[in-house]
Amino acid sequence: MSKEIVQIFDTTLRDGEQVPGCKLNTDQKLIIAERLDDLGVNVIEAGFPISSPGDFNSVVEISKIVKNASVCGLTRAVKKDIEVAAESLKKAVYPRIHTGIGTSNSHIKYKFNSTREKIIEQGFEAVKYAKKFVNDVEFYAEDAGRTDNEFLAKVCEKMIEAGATVLNIPDTTGYCLPFEYGEKIKFLKENVKNIDKAIISCHCHNDLGLATANSIYGVLNGARQIECTINGIGERAGNTSLEEVVMIMRQHDQLNLDTNINSKLLYDTSKMVSESMAMPVQPNKAIVGANAFAHSSGIHQDGVIKKRETYEIINPLDVGVNESAIVLTARSGRAALAYRAKNIGFELTKNQLDIVYSEFLKFADQKKEVKDKDIPVIIKNSNLKSIISF
Ligand code: KIV
Ligand code: ZN
Repeated sequence: MSKEIVQIFDTTLRDGEQVPGCKLNTDQKLIIAERLDDLGVNVIEAGFPISSPGDFNSVVEISKIVKNASVCGLTRAVKKDIEVAAESLKKAVYPRIHTGIGTSNSHIKYKFNSTREKIIEQGFEAVKYAKKFVNDVEFYAEDAGRTDNEFLAKVCEKMIEAGATVLNIPDTTGYCLPFEYGEKIKFLKENVKNIDKAIISCHCHNDLGLATANSIYGVLNGARQIECTINGIGERAGNTSLEEVVMIMRQHDQLNLDTNINSKLLYDTSKMVSESMAMPVQPNKAIVGANAFAHSSGIHQDGVIKKRETYEIINPLDVGVNESAIVLTARSGRAALAYRAKNIGFELTKNQLDIVYSEFLKFADQKKEVKDKDIPVIIKNSNLKSIISF
């Protein structure tokens, strides 16, 4: 049975780029947009066109070069924002306007000093207005994570009536628990009477480290789009990480869900984004961190050398990483030392290995990591008579 496809909406260039210090110029954004298109994302959120002339120009230029993905511009539920976004998207093959408004009590009361009725009216008018320019209009109910489900359902129904093709349900503050977020999506599927006319989208922030789990609960309960960023960058603790949700669906056949992402480009894309934004990826980051396929304890190394799957659930080649790394530290065992020594041309017998290993441990205790260049030195210091000459 073929798997159902979940759309990937990449917002690296909008929500991701909002991170202090991550600002990109148009040329840098164009390189990333082209790569995202090759990666196979369905939507590229290219910016917030009214926010600055630079952002407007980036959306214009990205619209010209992206061939496959929809190009999307963010707006508030404000006519001028929508006009500017429509103008910036004119050259896009598949333009999308992403408009919306806060729907939680706190947004309605403190941010807008408004009422529920007026908020629905403003959202409705915004979607209708955006539809005059493009067919594909996504509506976001900001802070949907803290919006009560009955009211949210009413909002969704009205926005679909106005012509919204996608309903974005953001957990803007990263507050929801996975089961709550899943129930919210299920509630909308079951209680919005015209829901079959739109796709539900998950947009989860990572304030409690739950963005990935929440997005997965969202799609398990009927959402069919995930909004995410490369390396999970984004406001505060970030957004859902693209590489994580993609690989969760790919690795778990029982979910019966997949994406169109070419996962072999994930590692390279992660490096590209990290370098151009000068935003390092934490070494233990799932899928793309420097240690994601590195093994350093003796027990794990022995297992991986015997059979990679013992300690790896993903084949590194599938995400564009050339091979698993066997890192030599004072916690490594004989198997790892023999493996690394063999890789650089030293085949050690069992007796030789015993001798070299005790020298290795002395060396490793002084260092964080033993490199390939250190191995001949260790062997030499071991005073082996029958070893390969240097
Ligand atoms: O987190 C959020 O609510 C957003 C919206 C503007 C879509 O980024
Ligand atoms: Zn966001």
